[in-house]
Amino acid sequence: MSMEPKTDPGHTTEALPDATKPQGYGEPFEEVVRARLARRAFLKGGAAAGVGMVVVPAVTAVAPRSAKTDEDPGARLRFSPIAASGADAVRVPEGYTHDVLIRWGDPLTASASAFTLSAQTPEAQRQQFGFNCDFVVDLPLPGWLAAEVKRFGRPSFVSSWFLGSLYASLRSQRASRALLWVNHEYTSGSEMFPGYDPNNPSADQVDIELAAHGGSIVEIVRDRAGRWGYDPASVFNRRITGETEIEIVGPLAGHALLQTSADPAGKTVRGMLNNCGGGFTPWGTILSAEENFDQYFANRSALAASDPQKAALYARLAAPAAASERKWERFHPRFDVSVEPNEYARFGYVVEVDPYDPTSTPRKHTAVGRFKHEAACTVLSKRRHAVLYSGDDARFEYIYKFVSTGKYDAFDRRANMRLLEEGTLYVAKLNADGSGQWLPLVHGQGPLTAANGFPSQAEVLVNTRGAADALGATKMDRPEDIEVSPVTNKVYIALTNNSARTSLATDPAEVAANPRLNNRWGHVVEFEEEGGDNAATQFRWELLIVCGDPAATPGTYFAGFDPALVSPISCPDNLDFDDAGNLWIATDGAPASPGFTTVNDGIYAVPVEGEARGYLRQFLSGVPGCEVACLKHAGDNRTLFASIQHPGEGAGLPNTLSSWPDGTNNPPRPAVVAVRHTQSRKIGL
Ligand code: FEO
Ligand code: CA
Ligand code: CA
Repeated sequence: MSMEPKTDPGHTTEALPDATKPQGYGEPFEEVVRARLARRAFLKGGAAAGVGMVVVPAVTAVAPRSAKTDEDPGARLRFSPIAASGADAVRVPEGYTHDVLIRWGDPLTASASAFTLSAQTPEAQRQQFGFNCDFVVDLPLPGWLAAEVKRFGRPSFVSSWFLGSLYASLRSQRASRALLWVNHEYTSGSEMFPGYDPNNPSADQVDIELAAHGGSIVEIVRDRAGRWGYDPASVFNRRITGETEIEIVGPLAGHALLQTSADPAGKTVRGMLNNCGGGFTPWGTILSAEENFDQYFANRSALAASDPQKAALYARLAAPAAASERKWERFHPRFDVSVEPNEYARFGYVVEVDPYDPTSTPRKHTAVGRFKHEAACTVLSKRRHAVLYSGDDARFEYIYKFVSTGKYDAFDRRANMRLLEEGTLYVAKLNADGSGQWLPLVHGQGPLTAANGFPSQAEVLVNTRGAADALGATKMDRPEDIEVSPVTNKVYIALTNNSARTSLATDPAEVAANPRLNNRWGHVVEFEEEGGDNAATQFRWELLIVCGDPAATPGTYFAGFDPALVSPISCPDNLDFDDAGNLWIATDGAPASPGFTTVNDGIYAVPVEGEARGYLRQFLSGVPGCEVACLKHAGDNRTLFASIQHPGEGAGLPNTLSSWPDGTNNPPRPAVVAVRHTQSRKIGL
């Protein structure tokens, strides 16, 4: 979800540039990029191809890469792209089909009520699939583990041990059963309750919304045709909501800043909120990232009057000044920061869940920093430290990574599940010459001292944005999802848009990495960590795609590929890789960007290596009002799961914009779809 306004006035009509090179504000940007790429070409012995050559117009004029090369660009991804669509139907390429796997309100226990729009209750919603599905990932479910949990209610120590040692190989195997994790990012009363009055929500409506947040674990089953369904009575099915007990772990567990009247120990929080993106770990757990948590809290102004020091600590990520839009504080005082100031410090983290153990307590990781975590992409470094990448999804915010102190041990899953509790959090500083540094957010180092408002590491973590400001990190155009290529270890960051970038930044690196004013279409940046090691503290960076319609949008760039051959794309949000190393991109908010107002958000695929680098094509179209909030290739790459979030959003009930997925006269329902090839081929390959 984007909490940033999706539309804004003031689109400028810039002259169309040469679409084979990234363009920005004019000379300052041109000079920065030219200087950087000329240096890069020099360092590579003057033999830089592709990007390096095409963006140095003063040095050389090179035709864009296209189908007329040695490699057939279509060979890396074999599907016929679809045309952009505004229809109230999910569209996929010829030869593919999709199934609606699970919808908001579908029952997750044998005793759960069937979904009835006019008869919702908190009790029912706690046993039903939640609202606004977002991050989705499948996890392999071996038969021996399923049998044990079904018999004893949880895996034995030995099974958990086996799972830890086998997880990597299990994940890539074709399976007929799996566990599906799905985030439920947020709720919209007007899209959930007929006759909803936003000024006077009822206590029941608020509690239904709390229960519709969080996440779901669902056992899914694949038939011989490759079609996935779900088992409504599985012992693994589980809801985690805005009220579920979650253990606080890491440096802030038990800290005075996190103690509340309901939890004087500061170690247990009720619920997780606004879980947007996420990730999965090499040891078989899922990570769910809390994003726009500020919106649930109220009365910052009253806190500023009663506790200015606490209000100052929260100032860089401030709660609403008065009442919240949702008004939950009327029924749950913990959401009033003037009543329970520390509750606010207990949100904005990454939650780890063990889906294989239905009795496990989710754990909220504080070592990864407190900000609007879009995602939690986790990989192992060369020396087997856990590395977690996360963006802070707001305008002019930063890109972070966390590197664990401990090392992954394939034979100790329990120890692995503690890796994210201790380590170093870094923030990215990009340089105009294409280099970059990961700056450590460590109390006592550099400006992170008591004199500057950071008397301990606790303040650094609670006020992560403030600490990153102090270090001079690079402000980006809304960092959304981050993914690491399984083939090259390069890191890809979706920067969704930033219409508030209305003037030239004073930092040339910020200009080079965010090359458009009034950036309504977004872009994608590539990091190459030093030595290919994700724990490195130095990296190189490069623009991969500057989004838009090459025929109409100023400044588009597709890694130097012939723009006449690509699909228009706007507002990249979620990312995924197939196992061949092609990047897949889901969009959020494209219909609010100029040139895209009649089409729906969708899914696109693009090779990032070889001659086809930049050959981006559309694979799926969502439905009106929706974002395609997440996409995930199944472990065997023969299914593509996608979250169709908030279909018909903004129209209220009865909804005249969308009736997807159930059709005419039905309310739209957020749902996860499973896309497959009719001949069970790998997706896109
Ligand atoms: Fe919830 Fe950054 O999208
Ligand atoms: Ca997102
Ligand atoms: Ca992703």
